[in-house]
Amino acid sequence: MEVKTIGVIGAGAMGRGIAYAAACGGYRTILEDVSPEMLEQGIAYIRQNLEEGVARGKVTEEQRNIALANLTTSRSVEDLCREADLLIEAVPEEMEVKLEIFTIFDKFALPAAILASNTSSLSITELAAITFRAQNCIGMHFFNPVPVMKLVEVIRGLATSQSTYNMVRDLAIALDKTPVEVNDAPGFVSNRVLMPLLNEAMYAVMEGVATAPAVDEVFKLGMAHPMGPLTLADFIGLDVCLDIMRVLHAGLGDPKYRPCPLLIKMVDAGWLGKKSGQGFYQY
Ligand code: 3HC
Repeated sequence: MEVKTIGVIGAGAMGRGIAYAAACGGYRTILEDVSPEMLEQGIAYIRQNLEEGVARGKVTEEQRNIALANLTTSRSVEDLCREADLLIEAVPEEMEVKLEIFTIFDKFALPAAILASNTSSLSITELAAITFRAQNCIGMHFFNPVPVMKLVEVIRGLATSQSTYNMVRDLAIALDKTPVEVNDAPGFVSNRVLMPLLNEAMYAVMEGVATAPAVDEVFKLGMAHPMGPLTLADFIGLDVCLDIMRVLHAGLGDPKYRPCPLLIKMVDAGWLGKKSGQGFYQY
């Protein structure tokens, strides 16, 4: 099967970025969200990125026009399933929600369609097991901001077939990304290593070892990280960080993954980082 049409479910930060990459890669792209506002914002984000690309000479006017012509929207996962060769869900990081989406995929998707999840930590094997086509299910984990970040973690569930893996690997390359093969485990490689670092940085702040800006300076100047860990946590979303720490803690059973109490307190307060205007910094 050749992938011609890509359906992206969820027009949040990740979904809109994935749709941008798919449309720029020359694929017919359908972006879906239950919220018309989110869809509108998602399309505006893609347009803005393309316009900025043209203004900076990184994207030609012809490429912009082709990408925009490739892009359509939908309000129904069922409708999108009937057309897409590859479905990528980028809905909130909750197993129940993702299982619901995979159940719809299984019911309505084309027989050969690939069913992918952009989950940052949840089990691909468990998502696949809700379907009758686990061999077609896979993890395709993109990184924020998607237009800039080159990595796609390609996660094999227990039953993912070699041909599904090969197609997704080749597709990631066609989207100008670099695929890295990873097996299914809580947080995969990226978030199993990154999140404990961010969590530990939060402990350092909570215990008064240093202020948030001081911790960030250590990592920016001492380790050449583009963003310090607390700026990065704010950028990712503190709620997302907490969800992932909880998946690591529950899935790996080791107390070293215990979420920092300061993180829990901030999320309880509605301090979710950049998107809410308040996190370790004010925005
Ligand atoms: N969308 C599109 N393009 C963007 C962008 C965005 N949101 N933010 C920055 N850019 C582009 C800029 O336009 C610029 O492009 P140019 O080189 O063509 O001019 C380029 O990126 C560099 O941007 P800036 O000069 O404005 O700023 P920086 O050099 O500070 O880079 C950054 C910004 C790329 C966001 C950099 O700070 C960075 O790499 N930060 C770390 C990001 C990171 O770690 N992401 C992974 C998060 S973890 C994740 O996503 C997994 C999930 O499961 C939690």
